[in-house]
Amino acid sequence: MAATVSDILLDWYDDHARELPWRARPGASPPDPYRVWLSEVMLQQTTVTAVKPYFTAFTQRWPTVDALAAADEADIMAAWAGLGYYSRARNLVKCARAVADRGGFPDTEEALRELPGLGAYTSAAVAAIAFGRKAVVVDANVERVVARLFAIEEPLPAVRKAIREATASITPAQRAGDFAQAMMDLGATICTGREPKCLLCPLSGACAARRSGDPARLPKKVPKKAKPVRQGQAFWIQRDTDVWLVRREGTGMLGGMRALPDDGWNAAGDGHGIPPADGNIQSLGLVRHTFSHFSLELAVVRLESAGFEPDGGEWWPLETLDEAGLPTLFAKAARLALAG
Ligand code: ADE
Ligand code: SF4
Repeated sequence: MAATVSDILLDWYDDHARELPWRARPGASPPDPYRVWLSEVMLQQTTVTAVKPYFTAFTQRWPTVDALAAADEADIMAAWAGLGYYSRARNLVKCARAVADRGGFPDTEEALRELPGLGAYTSAAVAAIAFGRKAVVVDANVERVVARLFAIEEPLPAVRKAIREATASITPAQRAGDFAQAMMDLGATICTGREPKCLLCPLSGACAARRSGDPARLPKKVPKKAKPVRQGQAFWIQRDTDVWLVRREGTGMLGGMRALPDDGWNAAGDGHGIPPADGNIQSLGLVRHTFSHFSLELAVVRLESAGFEPDGGEWWPLETLDEAGLPTLFAKAARLALAG
């Protein structure tokens, strides 16, 4: 019988797997579920390169899920700063506490799915990679590889279900975790977005898009709508060598993160332009940042106010501003203020 796609791919993975800090060697016994879970949560919406230093810092500081569960949420949020999509960090804390309470991670896809913040992707990935369960793991890399292997012509996102079924049809019962990671590695290093390296690809003999001659045209995508642009203002209030920082409220945009005070751009759409105190205002420039559903143009202004009465925040030394855990938007604003 001809070798299956999964046989060929697993052979390739045995020789070509990327060495990543959360991984076991191909074929070895599964890695620590805590490390698998943490890496998979971090890797959603974020690149391997960006995640590596965060993963190392987190696992050094909090080596177990119990250690993470016992940590202050504010410390975890600050350590997450720069990775983006901060609701992931809030769910990380909730999930760690739930797992510590029940005495460890559950070992099936269904039970993992019950944990806070674990969606279809993460539960499948953890079940397969940490527990050797057969689970169908589909991220953007896998989507691209599978759309090409099967020459699936219909556009994303509507075709997601068909891609999932096609992925299920090639997922092996054994080594499903290695298989998933092999697909991800193939997508990241060979079956790349613009110029797939079909000559180096172990699956080229089985690939329908390659036979058609132009695999890079797949997967097709329905063009995304342009994101709306919002405007806001952030205030740089300095006292000697300290700057005034607040902690953002609740679970909304950047909720729980330290920040410069602003005019509430996130609450009402556009900001209302109301500074936290009267005083002299000097424009320092504009910071642009893209969030999942809109882009923001944030005007950064220096506020000099004799009448400023500190409330609900803290004076933070400029010297150690990089330890404040500012999310990227406000880190950019601070750089602008410090340069100006
Ligand atoms: N992206 C998401 N999960 C991954 C993993 N386990 N290995 C490589 N890339 C990934
Ligand atoms: Fe991707 Fe080319 Fe391999 Fe097909 S043959 S899976 S298009 S790299």
